[in-house]
Amino acid sequence: MKIPRSFAALGIIFTRGVSAVTVAEVRGNRYLSPFSGKSFTNLTGVVTFIGFYTSLRSLEPDDDESTGESIGILGYGFGLNSAVGDIVTLDGSIWDDRPWKVFLPTTSIVDPYNVRLVSRGNPVKPVILGRATSGIIGNKDMRPPTEQYNKLDQGNVFGVPNNVASVSRFNLHLEPRKYGMDFFQSLCAELVTIRNPTALGRRAKDNALNSGLHLWVYGNWPVTGNNSRGGLTVTDGDANPETLILFAPVDGTENPNTTRLGDSLTDITGVIEYISSFGLYYLRPSTAPKVKSSRSPSLPPPSAIRSDGRCSALSVAEYNLEDWAPNNSRIPIFVDHIATYLGNPSIVFLQGIQDSSGPTDDGTVDANLTLSQLTQALEEQTGIPYDFIDINPPDNNDGVERGHNIRNAYIFNPSKVRLHHPNPGNSSVITCVLPGPSLRFNPGRIDAPPVFEYCRKPLVAHWEMVHDEGATFFTVNVQFKHKDALSTLQSDPRPPGNPWINDRIAQANVTGSCHRPNPGTRQKRRHHSGR
Ligand SMILES: *[C@@H]1O[C@H](CO)[C@@H](O)[C@H](O)[C@H]1NC(C)=O
Ligand SMILES: *[C@@H]1O[C@H](CO)[C@@H](O)[C@H](O)[C@H]1NC(C)=O
Ligand SMILES: *[C@@H]1O[C@H](CO)[C@@H](O)[C@H](O)[C@H]1NC(C)=O
Ligand SMILES: *[C@@H]1O[C@H](CO)[C@@H](O)[C@H](O)[C@H]1NC(C)=O
Ligand SMILES: *[C@@H]1O[C@H](CO)[C@@H](O)[C@H](O)[C@H]1NC(C)=O
Ligand SMILES: *[C@@H]1O[C@H](CO)[C@@H](O)[C@H](O)[C@H]1NC(C)=O
Ligand SMILES: *[C@@H]1O[C@H](CO)[C@@H](O)[C@H](O)[C@H]1NC(C)=O
Repeated sequence: MKIPRSFAALGIIFTRGVSAVTVAEVRGNRYLSPFSGKSFTNLTGVVTFIGFYTSLRSLEPDDDESTGESIGILGYGFGLNSAVGDIVTLDGSIWDDRPWKVFLPTTSIVDPYNVRLVSRGNPVKPVILGRATSGIIGNKDMRPPTEQYNKLDQGNVFGVPNNVASVSRFNLHLEPRKYGMDFFQSLCAELVTIRNPTALGRRAKDNALNSGLHLWVYGNWPVTGNNSRGGLTVTDGDANPETLILFAPVDGTENPNTTRLGDSLTDITGVIEYISSFGLYYLRPSTAPKVKSSRSPSLPPPSAIRSDGRCSALSVAEYNLEDWAPNNSRIPIFVDHIATYLGNPSIVFLQGIQDSSGPTDDGTVDANLTLSQLTQALEEQTGIPYDFIDINPPDNNDGVERGHNIRNAYIFNPSKVRLHHPNPGNSSVITCVLPGPSLRFNPGRIDAPPVFEYCRKPLVAHWEMVHDEGATFFTVNVQFKHKDALSTLQSDPRPPGNPWINDRIAQANVTGSCHRPNPGTRQKRRHHSGR
């Protein structure tokens, strides 16, 4: 069969002739298909991609930007017997399906039947993301919106109260020029190319569910918030929906796992897919991109901030070590960050410190070994005799995992700062601000049952400058209750889930009001096993 130059032209033939429905009709212009759960006959399209789904693209696209022009087909037999470039007509039914209610359903055709091959070997071109297109999938603006995710966020994707609406319940008309999710939803199953992509963050291959290394990118389209390192800075009202995450390539290659922020990558071609077990719009590439070039210098310059031991200059840093046990092989990396990049701050606020026996649940609660390994390694590199302070939690009380006894701590440079009138508290007493001001216990923990149940307690300290008589200051090292993994910026609930937000607000409230007189002793409370 001789193929007309334009599929649109070909489409007219089919509209008048065989086809009973178009892809745009079965996809519709909303999140859920008007054909959900229903069957159709004589849908015609060209196979553009074979991955987890087989993508079928319309031969008769409309110019309506809110309707999809491609659809995924789930069915092992169909994929096996198809090749890219096949034009087929088929019957089938539409499913809006999802494994997790917190994520969006994906629309697909499951097990099509009466598959009639019209012709093979037809040319297939990807749509170029980032510019206007005409012909392949109709006239559409392929530049992703750069600020808003979804109309239901009412202007703030991080807004509270969150989870007051849901995409699947409201099923709004897609507005792909305004909302990033609507844009990618309208392009689901579409074969696209990203030209000159720039690497953003990476999601590690960290569990069994996570097949392949997932890399965030943006293409050569207008972006907002671009910063000097090639990243996109999130600001109030602009959470950068113009980014896409890459899934594991279908040819078995692996996405580069050593990229740095701002790296230039080779062009990427693949299909857009909402992967409903991860809750994000992905691009599933046909093959992995390669790194073309990195920024030079490859890392930002080290901090130039230095303490002078007086009030005029004090450098502090915060470092979350994320559930860190003794003997961690990353100690040299930590030391390099503190010494080289942060320029030996006078105080480092540490979070995520396990006790000296690490994850072993053996009754150990002190973290002397964990912390002294860090200060010793720092001293070896810098010559500064860093010291540390922390307060042991009761055994298996502050969660999350049994035996870890995780807590906040400080390491500090005793030649620059020291505790002011030390009077250490313990886990049975609560510190508070006394007239002066001074602390009832220094250092001390803030607590208020049940607000910090299972959580790390803020660690408060009152310091003085070694070389500045009478100059003192206070620090509060907080790590509030964690969020949960089961929430993304592209989830079904809008604004998206912000798990435990009320707990964190209550914790902040207590932390901010610890000046209130209190008895200084913890109220009697149940003893918990960690979780
Ligand atoms: C579907 O196509 C077949 C031929 O392939 C035709 O006989 C039938 O009438 C078509 N059905 C509809 C509803 O267009
Ligand atoms: C952001 O991107 C624009 C347009 O490409 C460019 O002119 C500008 O220099 C970039 N800003 C930074 C901080 O790199
Ligand atoms: C990183 O990629 C290389 C090359 O594909 C691979 O050999 C290595 O196993 C990968 N490392 C990780 C941690 O995935
Ligand atoms: C750390 O290493 C030492 C020496 O090998 C060992 O005795 C100790 O049990 C280790 N501690 C942890 C928590 O892994
Ligand atoms: C931990 O170190 C402190 C002093 O830094 C010491 O008082 C305490 O006894 C040590 N605890 C253990 C269990 O070694
Ligand atoms: C905790 O500190 C208080 C006040 O100094 C003291 O009375 C109490 O005995 C201490 N508890 C423990 C377990 O050391
Ligand atoms: C904050 O604390 C005050 C005083 O304890 C209380 O009245 C208020 O309800 C708290 N607010 C929140 C959001 O927890």
